Amino acid sequence: MPERTQTGPSDVSRVLVSTDQIQHRVGDLARQISKDYEKAEKLLLVGILRGAFIFLADLTRKISVPHAVDFMAVSSYGKGASHGEVRILMDLREPVEGQHILIVEDIVDSGQTLEYLYRQLQTRQPASLRTCVMVRKKRPSLKVPIDYLGFEIPDVWVVGYGLDYADHYRTLPYIAELKGVGSAK
Ligand code: IMP
Ligand code: MG
Repeated sequence: MPERTQTGPSDVSRVLVSTDQIQHRVGDLARQISKDYEKAEKLLLVGILRGAFIFLADLTRKISVPHAVDFMAVSSYGKGASHGEVRILMDLREPVEGQHILIVEDIVDSGQTLEYLYRQLQTRQPASLRTCVMVRKKRPSLKVPIDYLGFEIPDVWVVGYGLDYADHYRTLPYIAELKGVGSAK
């Protein structure tokens, strides 16, 4: 059973992105997004549950242009394989047609989840479609653009700032490597 402390569980091996780095970077991303969508009507941030909820909560409060927030929940099967499958568990409430959509995701690993979501939302005729990702594992190819990226990290299992391991560690204020857990691949 992992420790319940918010600050330093013993099975977290090294902090990869500190609380300060996260807060600064989220501020930078929010400023850039606010600038880019200055003239856009109907900006909708689409947070991907569950991992993105903390990132989204910080981002939405720092974006200075009017926008709405909605959520989707997805689950992945057979991760990392070409037969991997993504399924929508919870969809958006409103149609996205004509809206400027910004997908907000916690982490991109193989890219399978983001690629699936991107394709799904693209078929619904948004006015524009972009992606904002907190952390990305270093991988050679990704079929969708990441328009706003927080950090690139090594290919290890990370937790904190919304990211979990079996639903633990989400509330750590930093992003850290978890001991003894390889990446999903
Ligand atoms: P992908 O489809 O392989 O890009 O995986 C994306 C999803 O897997 C993310 O949205 C996370 O939910 C989960 N995931 C991948 N790597 C990690 C990690 O290191 N920590 C926590 N969750 C992860
Ligand atoms: Mg996710």
